Amino acid sequence: MDLQELNKMSRIPLPYSQKVIDLFRNPKNQGKMENPTVTSVAGNPACGDMITFYMKIKDQKIIEKITFESYGCAANIATASIVTEMIKGMSLENIWKELTWKKVAEEAGGLPSVKSHCGILAVGAVKRAIRKFYQNESSVPSWIPQDLTYEEKQAMEEEELAEKLAKKLNVPE
Ligand code: FES
Repeated sequence: MDLQELNKMSRIPLPYSQKVIDLFRNPKNQGKMENPTVTSVAGNPACGDMITFYMKIKDQKIIEKITFESYGCAANIATASIVTEMIKGMSLENIWKELTWKKVAEEAGGLPSVKSHCGILAVGAVKRAIRKFYQNESSVPSWIPQDLTYEEKQAMEEEELAEKLAKKLNVPE
């Protein structure tokens, strides 16, 4: 496929729901947070985009406040916004057990299939943050499996992502 064809394709608007478009324009809980309890920076190997979540966690392991910064696409900004609204006030355990990218996609009014990974990135980054929180406390509960979940694997840490992308692009070390 030549560049002209590619350009033509990229101008075809993606079938985003109205909710995704609205949240892309006016995301909730966007921005950096001062003194968060935990942060996680994660990127998706499918597109190379990154997201950061900042969480303030109360003693009872409940999310008191959560914000995000996205360096991703409209779907990622919208799903990150949805995730923050869904999990604010929830316990870390319930988030871990109940939050799935499919639920987030449903809440978004559906995502174009080529954009599923953008929602997966948002959920994976949250799960990475929860895992990191307990690792920092040196007491990982039994409901967090030792192996990374599918969503966490799709939301790689900055270094992992850079390594993976470098391999993809064949950049010499
Ligand atoms: S295309 Fe990268 S997050 Fe959506």
